[in-house]
Amino acid sequence: MTPYVADPVYLNGQFKPLAEASISPLDRGFLYGDGVYEVIPVYSRRVFRVDEHLKRLQATLDGIKLANPLSADGWKEVVFKLIETAPWEDQSIYLQVTRGTDDKRDHAFPPASVQPTAFAFSSPLVTTPAEIRAKGVAAITVPDLRWSRCDLKVISLLANVLARQQAVDQGCAEALLIRDGFMKEGAASNIFIVKDGVLHAPPKTHLMLPGITYDVILELAESHGQPVKIAEIEETELRAADEVWMTSSTKEILAITTLDGQPIGNGPNAGQPGPLGKQMWQWYQDFKNTVMRKG
Ligand code: PDD
Repeated sequence: MTPYVADPVYLNGQFKPLAEASISPLDRGFLYGDGVYEVIPVYSRRVFRVDEHLKRLQATLDGIKLANPLSADGWKEVVFKLIETAPWEDQSIYLQVTRGTDDKRDHAFPPASVQPTAFAFSSPLVTTPAEIRAKGVAAITVPDLRWSRCDLKVISLLANVLARQQAVDQGCAEALLIRDGFMKEGAASNIFIVKDGVLHAPPKTHLMLPGITYDVILELAESHGQPVKIAEIEETELRAADEVWMTSSTKEILAITTLDGQPIGNGPNAGQPGPLGKQMWQWYQDFKNTVMRKG
């Protein structure tokens, strides 16, 4: 076991140590980035919203015209076994399916006899340390250079990788992607803003990944009577926001407190996490401890 990946991992119907799990270099995931993935959080060994994650996996597979190698119940069996054998209480389960290994390199799909490659493993779910949460993180804006099916959770993530690295090179945690004057999401997160007490979120379109955490945030907002506006967010609105947050299954909710070197918000608390973000984080923790950890 590496400190990051638990043994055994799952590969094509078998559970085996990571060191013994191998695939051909002709795998289309390797040659073309031709595949899909999911990241599912696990709290106290209970998997969170597995049906929703498996539904999104299926939607992405349908979107790239790749047959699912496992049924939903088959995937659940894999996930449960990984959770059971990993040494951590809180985990992050990674699933990946590629279009498999042909005996040649050809852009068009391989013959139907080529089986998809299915891979899955568990990692520890490490949440953001309290001292970082207390200060929030810095982000930059970059042009969104991705393709036009950002609603699909595909493994071809080069534009996301380059955007995130640009942020890291500037000492920042996330890159916010701007397309045609609108903020769509982060390189690996959804983005919410707060203005005058209203929580704003971009709508689910083909230019944004429909986050499972995004749904949880909107459900929590609704159940606590928090006003919400779902509408495209202009870059100017982003810069004028009182609060900006990033959300994902692994980051949960994290305040972005500076953007392109400028503090988010106005007045004496500019550049600090805002009240609604702190409140939402608390609602999320309460939900996690009362619902997610109980299964
Ligand atoms: N990424 N948008 C993008 C581009 C993402 O990559 C992610 C998650 C999200 C948030 O989705 P969710 O709430 O379902 O985690 C939004 C995962 C964590 C990753 O790539 O590791």
